[in-house]
Amino acid sequence: MKKILVALLALAMVFTLVSCNKSSSSKVLVGVSMPTQSLQRWNQDGSNMVSQLKSAGYDSILQYANNDVTTQVQQIENMITKGCKILVIAAIDGSSMTDVLATAAKNNVKVIAYDRLIMQTPNVDYYATFDNYKVGQLQGKYIVDQLKLDSASGPFNIEIFAGSPDDNNAKFFFNGAMDVLKPYISSGKLVIKSGQKDFNVVAITSWTSATAQSRMDNLITANYANGTKLDAILSPNDSIAIGIVASLQSHNYGTADKPYPILTGQDCDKPNVKAVLAGQQSMSIFKDTRKLASETVTMITAMEKAQTPETNDSKTYNNGVKVVPTELLTPVFVDKSNYKSILIDSGYYKLSDIQ
Ligand code: GAL
Repeated sequence: MKKILVALLALAMVFTLVSCNKSSSSKVLVGVSMPTQSLQRWNQDGSNMVSQLKSAGYDSILQYANNDVTTQVQQIENMITKGCKILVIAAIDGSSMTDVLATAAKNNVKVIAYDRLIMQTPNVDYYATFDNYKVGQLQGKYIVDQLKLDSASGPFNIEIFAGSPDDNNAKFFFNGAMDVLKPYISSGKLVIKSGQKDFNVVAITSWTSATAQSRMDNLITANYANGTKLDAILSPNDSIAIGIVASLQSHNYGTADKPYPILTGQDCDKPNVKAVLAGQQSMSIFKDTRKLASETVTMITAMEKAQTPETNDSKTYNNGVKVVPTELLTPVFVDKSNYKSILIDSGYYKLSDIQ
């Protein structure tokens, strides 16, 4: 009898251990921290990340911080407390993560900077983004091509906008575009009537459409109210372009004697693709957020297997403490001539999304 009891007890212990193992082999939890839902692209980034993590067998926590730095830091702290083993972060302010990522490191949590480089910390393991300098080059080149700057005599008037100073990407977009445009500015073929060309002067904090609209209002009032033609505007992304178009419309651009200037953008947000089709914006840059999510999940899977994720840039992205190994995806320009093949045929949008 005693032997049977001992055997049953041993069996019960084995069963308990196995079931504990089963519960301890629960899925790896990934924290996804996005800056805001007020810009369309981040909503797509968030949903792509959650669905692609799920397909790869991961659980996830997705949170948006409403463009508030303190909120984003608190959300990330909570993700660490809840047991996230990996953090995927699109930082509102790249330099605001130092302390919370020190906590992450103490808890052996890996960190991937998502689309925006996290600055001033050794505790970021990888960076997944698009080639941000190339984004700017494409925007600059589009202006050069549309104005035919290599053959036309000019001069042409241009105004410059840049993205948010707290976003490391903004300087890459700006430098990429200005490196293309500078020779034409130096030769006088491109004239910045306002004289405003320094990054800190032309930067739009938090990428806000309203701020861009008000700066455009001031530029028009001060430099173009007397019938001076405005030929081109460099806008680094679509939320800024939306504000610029609103200002142009309020100053009666879009008519025969005041046509819309060449206007660039980035992200192919739905309202902006509509604006491109309506002739109010000239182009945008397509960054397929499905591919960025897939690349990020590939990095996560490699790390989970204790392998080194593949990256294709180990030189460019110095975050002030170290060069972060980076995977750069390729951005492409979109305008009236190619939106169908790039946005519709690829399944990114349905035609009804942009009509
Ligand atoms: C950048 C991002 C761009 C742009 C901007 C505003 O960091 O790379 O796609 O949209 O933020 O969200």
